[in-house]
Amino acid sequence: MAPLPALSRAVARSAARLPTTTTTAVRAVSSSPALRGSDSSTYQSPFRGESKSSRIPDFSKYMSKGSGAGNALFGYFMVGTLGAISAAGAKSTVQEFLVNMSASADVLAMAKVEVDLASIPEGKNVIIKWRGKPVFIRHRTAAEIDEANQVNVASLRDPESDEQRVKRPEWLVMLGVCTHLGCVPIGEAGDFGGWFCPCHGSHYDISGRIRKGPAPLNLEIPAYDFSDDGKLVVG
Ligand code: FES
Repeated sequence: MAPLPALSRAVARSAARLPTTTTTAVRAVSSSPALRGSDSSTYQSPFRGESKSSRIPDFSKYMSKGSGAGNALFGYFMVGTLGAISAAGAKSTVQEFLVNMSASADVLAMAKVEVDLASIPEGKNVIIKWRGKPVFIRHRTAAEIDEANQVNVASLRDPESDEQRVKRPEWLVMLGVCTHLGCVPIGEAGDFGGWFCPCHGSHYDISGRIRKGPAPLNLEIPAYDFSDDGKLVVG
């Protein structure tokens, strides 16, 4: 066992070191640099083991010399300008995309077909090609128009009056595709004086309405119009 005076000296030495140890611990847990004294250009490092103080760099030469309002104005100008440039870029991108996706001039030209009606005599059929399909154009006589109007619409498989199927009574315009399985019917044939499909025996009347046979619907009417110069525009 150590002699009593030697033990007392050891305790005294430990007590003398205690304040220094406590100070180090406090510094170690501090998370913000401690400014030294009243000099704000230096700070005490908060990290353990760094005992030297450091100087805060001088950024004053980077500071704006202008007023606060001037700086704000410059900021607004930059934000506005960049926003305008971004919007113009986005518009250009979308516009390019839409132009590329839209139909080209040759495709649009094929979408419509013009027919000179003066070249079709009364009582005659003409077949034109539109978008790869046949289109029947018949210049109907007054007797054919009367015949088409005298049909009892309620008795039809696909009830449609003749008025609903034409824009001008003398001109009947239809797709020449049988509504059964897509054959091309023959004109001026069949039991009803209209069109006859030889594939399975469908009969259409002078208004293109199905009257007999397996076809479920009347011949389809495409989009068309009459131009001022006496032409029919299909499409
Ligand atoms: S395709 Fe015309 S009747 Fe069958």
